[in-house]
Amino acid sequence: MLKKIINIIKPLLPKNRIMDEIKWRLKNKPVPPPHFIKQRIIRGYAKKFAIKEFVETGTYLGSTVEAVKNVFEEIYSVEIDRLLFKKARDRFANYQHIQILQGDSSKILPLILEKLNATTLFWLDGHYSGGDSSKGDQNTPILKELELILNHRIKNHIILIDDARCFTGKDDYPTLIKVQSFLKKIRPELIFQIRDDIIRIMP
Ligand SMILES: C[S@@+](CC[C@H](N)C(=O)[O-])C[C@H]1O[C@@H](n2cnc3c(N)ncnc32)[C@H](O)[C@@H]1O
Repeated sequence: MLKKIINIIKPLLPKNRIMDEIKWRLKNKPVPPPHFIKQRIIRGYAKKFAIKEFVETGTYLGSTVEAVKNVFEEIYSVEIDRLLFKKARDRFANYQHIQILQGDSSKILPLILEKLNATTLFWLDGHYSGGDSSKGDQNTPILKELELILNHRIKNHIILIDDARCFTGKDDYPTLIKVQSFLKKIRPELIFQIRDDIIRIMP
């Protein structure tokens, strides 16, 4: 059965992705999953909840923006690093519905939130990740980002936080339990799940 499905979708996908996914599944889905799987998960939420607006913190080179650019009607992505910001801004300069913003996400998010008029899918991925990435006051501003989104006037946003495996209580990352109790304090009615290295918060 699996072989049949693979044969059907094979011509539709880049060759190496099929192999990467098969290997990942055969190894029992270790974290982190390949990037394209995370991007597919984001597109899946957009489709399932008919969401048209997307906000990402941590643009880096813009791979996630690229992967979702035809899915959303409005896309905002924030990058703290000036050089990475300029590269991404130039990359998407021809897309009217994509706005790449520069700054610390915890400071830029309020400006984006002001503009939102509908349920939005948030992809929170703005954290120091070595190499050419940068950081603000902390390695991750996740609790501030969450606080801002959870207190927004629109109450049914979907929030996906990448790299759940990093939430160990070290290097400025809260533990997963701390994120969950933070959520319970502000919006106890929301669902909190972790799957495939992604923390998922939704109504
Ligand atoms: C893991 S990368 C993001 C990858 C990107 N989301 C993707 O899917 O390709 C993290 C990025 O967040 C940026 N960053 C770190 N702290 C930030 C902050 N406080 N605000 C905005 N961006 C931040 C880093 O410079 C880096 O480019």
